[in-house]
Amino acid sequence: MATPVFSLAAAAAAALIFACAAYAGDPFAYFDWDVSYITAAPLGVEQQVIAINKQFPGPVVNITTNWNVVVNVLNSLDEPLLITWNGIQQRKNCWQDGVLGTNCPIPSGWNWTYQFQVKDQIGSFFYFPSVGFQRAAGGFGGITVNNRAVIAVPFGKPDGDITLFIGDWYNKNHTDLRKMLDDGKDLGMPDGVLMNGKGPYRYNATLVPDGIQYETINVEPGKTYRFRVHNVGISTSLNFRIQNHNMLLVETEGLYTVQQNYTTLDIHVGQSYSFLVTMNQNASSDYYIVASARFVNESLWTRVTGVAVLHYSNSNGKASGPLPDPPNDFYDKYFSMNQAKSIRMNVSTGAARPNPQGSYKYGSINVTQVYVLKNEPPAVINGTRRTTLNGISYSPPDTPLRLADLYNLKGIYTLDFPSSPLDRPPRIGRSVINGSYKGFVEIILQNNDTTVQSYHMDGYSFFVVGMDYGEWTESNRGTYNKWDAASRCTTQVFPGAWTAILVPLDNVGIWNLRAQNLDSWYLGQEVYMKVADPEGYNKTELTVPDNVLYCGFLKDKQKPQESHRKQSSSPSIATGRSKLLTLMLLFATAFAVVS
Ligand SMILES: *[C@@H]1O[C@H](CO)[C@@H](O)[C@H](O)[C@H]1NC(C)=O
Ligand SMILES: *[C@@H]1O[C@H](CO)[C@@H](O)[C@H](O)[C@H]1NC(C)=O
Ligand SMILES: *[C@@H]1O[C@H](CO)[C@@H](O)[C@H](O)[C@H]1NC(C)=O
Ligand SMILES: *[C@@H]1O[C@H](CO)[C@@H](O)[C@H](O)[C@H]1NC(C)=O
Ligand SMILES: *[C@@H]1O[C@H](CO)[C@@H](O)[C@H](O)[C@H]1NC(C)=O
Ligand SMILES: *[C@@H]1O[C@H](CO)[C@@H](O)[C@H](O)[C@H]1NC(C)=O
Ligand SMILES: *[C@@H]1O[C@H](CO)[C@@H](O)[C@H](O)[C@H]1NC(C)=O
Ligand SMILES: *[C@@H]1O[C@H](CO)[C@@H](O)[C@H](O)[C@H]1NC(C)=O
Ligand SMILES: *[C@@H]1O[C@H](CO)[C@@H](O)[C@H](O)[C@H]1NC(C)=O
Ligand SMILES: *[C@@H]1O[C@H](CO)[C@@H](O)[C@H](O)[C@H]1NC(C)=O
Ligand SMILES: *[C@@H]1O[C@H](CO)[C@@H](O)[C@H](O)[C@H]1NC(C)=O
Ligand SMILES: *[C@@H]1O[C@H](CO)[C@@H](O)[C@H](O)[C@H]1NC(C)=O
Repeated sequence: MATPVFSLAAAAAAALIFACAAYAGDPFAYFDWDVSYITAAPLGVEQQVIAINKQFPGPVVNITTNWNVVVNVLNSLDEPLLITWNGIQQRKNCWQDGVLGTNCPIPSGWNWTYQFQVKDQIGSFFYFPSVGFQRAAGGFGGITVNNRAVIAVPFGKPDGDITLFIGDWYNKNHTDLRKMLDDGKDLGMPDGVLMNGKGPYRYNATLVPDGIQYETINVEPGKTYRFRVHNVGISTSLNFRIQNHNMLLVETEGLYTVQQNYTTLDIHVGQSYSFLVTMNQNASSDYYIVASARFVNESLWTRVTGVAVLHYSNSNGKASGPLPDPPNDFYDKYFSMNQAKSIRMNVSTGAARPNPQGSYKYGSINVTQVYVLKNEPPAVINGTRRTTLNGISYSPPDTPLRLADLYNLKGIYTLDFPSSPLDRPPRIGRSVINGSYKGFVEIILQNNDTTVQSYHMDGYSFFVVGMDYGEWTESNRGTYNKWDAASRCTTQVFPGAWTAILVPLDNVGIWNLRAQNLDSWYLGQEVYMKVADPEGYNKTELTVPDNVLYCGFLKDKQKPQESHRKQSSSPSIATGRSKLLTLMLLFATAFAVVS
């Protein structure tokens, strides 16, 4: 694992170079990343996966509240790249968010240096490549934000800290998967579930071929470890469990939870959880660590199961026998939803700050804006298969929204996202939510699809105050948890159900609200929320970084960069998405202007 280089002199130098509004004295952590393909065969089939400094998964960014993080990313892929820091709030600094609405992608062969301060948060998060379906090939890694030493933690210091990435996986590479989606096809059942980039332990000789590398977690008897588990997969909800061991849930996405034991927990795409696990078993053998596909016909999906090994140093032998059972709730669609509702805030403990998490009385704040965002199953729009939110399938313009605003370019997007689904045919668009700074917005995510979806908002964490099956109505507000709801950055929405979230709009910028399920996202299920600072740029919001990349209508401002791969070209967003769409949109816009 790469450790950050850390020196005060370098910190001072960097502070001068970047002239950033970082507090003097807050430490800097530096990372140098070469993002490239390596060949791996996690499920026995060789393919190109995306590695960071030849590591797959990438290194854990292990930092502390208020630190400044500098990551110099060299794009050694053959296509554009952006890294997004899922759950890092980038306060007043959407310039570093690493999504197409705020950043031009880093061209192949170029490097770009992210610099941001991790303000006012703690917890377990992860980063991943945000364009071109690349997350399906890797490029992800953990972000651990430790508490400052002066802040108490609501549990004793664990004896070890273990990061686990779980996620569905295809033997087809991301460019082939992308093409399938562009051609209007469904990706079908994944080929397996990886744990830390490795295939399943051979728990069953019929189901798992010989020679697959699996993950082993080595532990000492009697000790207690913190497991940080991230679902970095494409679209499969996973049930996570450790044979014979209780998992004490303590944290999710920066929130200290009410501490409760679970024997299994459903972890949806894009979600992160910390458990404390005590090694209190007799080590008669190793134990299985399992992540199995959820809400599917398990007899058809047996191969979509990740299995790692928990190995006590005094273990008497290999794990054998059947895997621990998944929940048996086929006839109880509320089981998983009730489990989600059982994840609540510990109101009395501090987190990034000493004051208790519950001291912010979100339940008594008046809502200023309400948005009902409804998805629908994929539908053909203008000849291509697309996904929508409120009937709009987002297609990113070539010029990032935030840059367009900075240069006063009109017509790049419209600020008219409908506050509820409209009775009109679905369309492709670039419509943005107009959020009012310091407002308090209620968003109801209504899932009309037949699979679980999860949604993430950049720049914020939100209170998950309610979920239920059926169509949301105003009377459902009576059921909201107004006291100790979990505050997090990714929530699941069950099929045919809704989830309500409350978001205090205290972070200026333009922020991505997206489906974390990669295929839903790729096909257009995302929107941006603009939270403009009434005081204007460079008052509340940080100024554009000196090294900003230009593209789209601003590409002439971009200075060339000497390619490390001899393949340089100006940054361009269109690559990786259907260029046809962009053309269609241009036509549509031109048509609208003329008529
Ligand atoms: C993906 O696989 C296809 C063959 O199926 C190949 O043509 C393509 O180059 C591969 N892409 C990457 C990034 O490895
Ligand atoms: C992460 O950083 C913390 C605080 O600096 C340190 O205690 C811990 O050992 C580090 N963890 C890893 C896995 O390097
Ligand atoms: C690219 O990396 C070099 C050092 O390797 C650094 O000096 C330069 O600032 C980086 N460029 C950008 C745009 O971040
Ligand atoms: C292995 O899996 C196959 C297929 O699901 C099943 O029929 C068989 O009973 C399993 N073997 C063992 C030893 O569990
Ligand atoms: C959780 O389970 C452990 C045993 O694995 C037990 O010692 C502990 O008291 C339980 N904690 C709670 C909050 O139930
Ligand atoms: C160890 O624990 C398992 C299950 O908890 C039990 O079946 C087994 O008999 C125990 N073995 C010993 C040697 O105590
Ligand atoms: C699961 O699939 C098997 C095999 O096709 C089928 O026999 C069974 O009825 C399915 N179960 C459910 C609950 O749909
Ligand atoms: C909540 O946090 C406090 C520390 O402030 C801790 O003592 C308590 O055990 C936690 N309660 C639960 C239920 O997790
Ligand atoms: C919230 O709205 C109610 C009714 O409109 C009003 O009486 C109350 O003062 C408002 N509360 C706050 C904190 O603004
Ligand atoms: C389909 O494309 C045409 C132009 O080719 C455009 O006029 C129309 O608005 C588009 N329809 C939708 C639903 O996006
Ligand atoms: C989707 O919406 C339609 C129309 O409101 C409704 O009839 C249908 O039951 C919904 N399906 C799901 C899975 O929510
Ligand atoms: C931002 O404001 C500060 C202080 O008001 C000023 O020194 C700086 O030049 C401004 N930067 C830009 C890019 O406008």
